[in-house]
Amino acid sequence: MNFPKGFVWGVATASYQIEGAAREDGKGLSIWDTFCLKEGNIWNGQSGDIACDHYHRYPEDIEIMKQIGVNAYRLSISWSRVLPNGTGKVNPKGMAFYDRLIDQLLEAKITPYVTLFHWDYPEELYCRGGWLNPDSSDWFAEYTKVVVEKLSDRVKNWMTMNEPQVFINHGHHHGTHAPGLKLGTAQLLRTAHNTLLSHGKAVQTIRAYSKSACNVGLAAVGVVFTPATDKPADIAAARQAMFSVTNKDVWNNTWWMDPMLVGKYPEDGLALFGADAPAIREKDMAIIHQPLDFLGLNIYYGQTVRAGKEGQPEIIPDPVGHPITFYHWGVNPQTLYWGPKNFFERYKLPIYITENGMANVDWVALDGKVHDPQRIDFLNRYLLQLFKASKDGADIRGYFQWSLMDNFEWASGYRERFGMVYVDYTTQQRIPKDSAYWYKDVIASNGAAFGK
Ligand code: FCB
Repeated sequence: MNFPKGFVWGVATASYQIEGAAREDGKGLSIWDTFCLKEGNIWNGQSGDIACDHYHRYPEDIEIMKQIGVNAYRLSISWSRVLPNGTGKVNPKGMAFYDRLIDQLLEAKITPYVTLFHWDYPEELYCRGGWLNPDSSDWFAEYTKVVVEKLSDRVKNWMTMNEPQVFINHGHHHGTHAPGLKLGTAQLLRTAHNTLLSHGKAVQTIRAYSKSACNVGLAAVGVVFTPATDKPADIAAARQAMFSVTNKDVWNNTWWMDPMLVGKYPEDGLALFGADAPAIREKDMAIIHQPLDFLGLNIYYGQTVRAGKEGQPEIIPDPVGHPITFYHWGVNPQTLYWGPKNFFERYKLPIYITENGMANVDWVALDGKVHDPQRIDFLNRYLLQLFKASKDGADIRGYFQWSLMDNFEWASGYRERFGMVYVDYTTQQRIPKDSAYWYKDVIASNGAAFGK
């Protein structure tokens, strides 16, 4: 049961969730730094001020990755560490950190996959209107140029952004993530439009300034619906659910991916949003619609769908007692079959699973080890489905487990442990969990080592 030759086996993290050093070496504040200050925003009043102290401990973390045997590492760059005000003056010490990190990764024979933006938006730019400001896409392009000019002699795999669905929806609509806004539909869609423009301009910038041949994509939420049965009608209904816009928010696939990958907003979304739809200037869609080399999908869970009376999708709730993770997300391994398969068929781009994993109730056992059999079983089940999708013809190039180590899980603080490496936040000791050893065997055998 081997994955295709050259399959990328990686782990993923994000700057704000692991780096710490929030106010060190000239870093500017991000909206997550300020969001965490407000009482009630984060579980137990926690913050990413110190997090996993990766800013200082990255050599140890690279060593751990080396031991696990990953051949790739997905990391993100903190925009305000590089440009403290979001635009303008570069912070040399901040840039130097990423320079060292990339060098050491390459020395360890680990290929970096860099996400330019994983939610830690510069506070200064937020004060200038953030994603609502018509200039926001130029700001993002400026930042992209700075990073690409510095790192692209060594970094060849880029993602413009992580999960626009989440930072726009949770951050600008539900108010549960930074910056905590609760915008109405028209303004929400305007932030989304500026985000799409930012993506497009960043892709153009990467291609214009990269010093070596590069692969460019993004990491989006893969919102997945799986068919209740193998009947063609159920399969079609699940696919329809995946590729339609039915709610007045931006928690869907096509409002984002159709503009980026097809060059237009989906008709059903335009009809649903009506007068709230964003004003589209003449060149906008051409800017947004840039050729991409891959589509990154973050997939954790999904919903089951069957064909209703007229064939329309009908969601079937998980049965009572259905397994859930500590984060209360359902365990739905089939999402790693239908997700990549359907996205590949629709957009015809190579797929990377840029995030997949689970929060577990992990602690250090009396024997000093961290046993996480649920995580092993979870990953095993999901990888079997991914393998099936690959065998059935979806062009799947790689898999990044979320996450290398326990970290700051946004509004949930340190309550959720998503890592394959346990982090003791009082001592910063790292302990690879059983799943890390299991993953090591999976990687070494290119997938052959996992259970049937
Ligand atoms: C994803 C985020 C990532 C992490 C995981 C659990 O939505 O991209 O930063 O929080 O969920």
